[in-house]
Amino acid sequence: MLNKIKIISTGKSLPDRIVTNKELEEFVDTSETWISSRTGIKERRFASSEESTSDLAARAATSVLNKAQIDALDIDLIIVTTMTPDMLFPSTACMVQEKIGAYNASAFDLEAACSGFLYGLVVGSQFISTGSYRHVLVIGAEIMSKILDFEDRSTCVLFGDGAGACLLGEADNNEQGILSFDLGADGNKGEILKMPAGGSIHPASHKTLGDRLHYLKMNGNEVYRFAVKLIGESTLKSLKLSGKKSEDVDLFIPHQANIRIIDSAVKKLNIDYDKVFLNVEKYGNMSAASIPVALDEALEEGRIKRGDLIVLVGFGAGLTWGSCVVNW
Ligand code: ACO
Repeated sequence: MLNKIKIISTGKSLPDRIVTNKELEEFVDTSETWISSRTGIKERRFASSEESTSDLAARAATSVLNKAQIDALDIDLIIVTTMTPDMLFPSTACMVQEKIGAYNASAFDLEAACSGFLYGLVVGSQFISTGSYRHVLVIGAEIMSKILDFEDRSTCVLFGDGAGACLLGEADNNEQGILSFDLGADGNKGEILKMPAGGSIHPASHKTLGDRLHYLKMNGNEVYRFAVKLIGESTLKSLKLSGKKSEDVDLFIPHQANIRIIDSAVKKLNIDYDKVFLNVEKYGNMSAASIPVALDEALEEGRIKRGDLIVLVGFGAGLTWGSCVVNW
């Protein structure tokens, strides 16, 4: 288990360009009504062609450091969780290190798709738990719009771009901070959500481009079923490990992929709907950026106060899932 880990501060960065469902209607065979009724999404942000994932990540990181009033040189480790890195190597985390001037930090990327931020939170926490590091920056950053196939209406309407981040440090006592976590994976279901080309199986070629294999492919219905099941199971597991119950939860922050997935999971968990944080309407599914952006907005909106019990839970390609119980 983890020991005395707290989230010192949070931050986010969202591209300026807002793309509404109506705007998508102009170049995708879809409708505002279909998207909002099936997903709850009304608009999302798309990065400009000049913006990279490390640009968004570095802006989110700067916001975190400003709020914590900590100098970039005091960061010991940067973990960037992303499935849309600037390039396969060097890591996006190294690019962020350079952009924010965190020259004393080690840096690496962690890929667990939409569960990435939760994986990053747990991995980063270990370095603090062991006393090896004092300040770990965990960033979830994605430019999904650059891997979407705008000829595939079943996927391209669902995702958006953004970055969210948090700074981890030592908590004052064992009751504060991250109380428990659950992480899981089922590689057997890897086929239902993937980007087939660009790696060692299908390196870039005229054929992979022609076959549109450098885009995200998804069996939405299968992901849907998996997500509802795992959100419930993982949340209950983390709550049990922390000695808490569903009714103790003050704010539930699920991965913002689809309002219907969240509704079904929340009903099964018996959590009051007014304790569920939602922003999927504004941003769509930002993959690894979804949970840290939601956490930052919840704090900005005053939905979290000291001593509140928070659950963060996510799922994604791999398939992977994860949850954390945090005493704020
Ligand atoms: N606009 C209009 N019609 C559409 C669109 C669209 N954008 N997309 C699909 N349709 C049509 C289909 O063609 C189908 O038409 P048909 O009945 O004539 O064949 C009809 O809508 C129904 O399609 P379904 O796939 O059954 O629609 P469903 O209600 O199941 O919703 C959705 C699909 C929204 C994708 C849902 O399955 C879902 O949210 N799945 C989870 C996706 C998810 O969360 N992914 C992220 C995982 S995290 C990560 O790691 C990236």
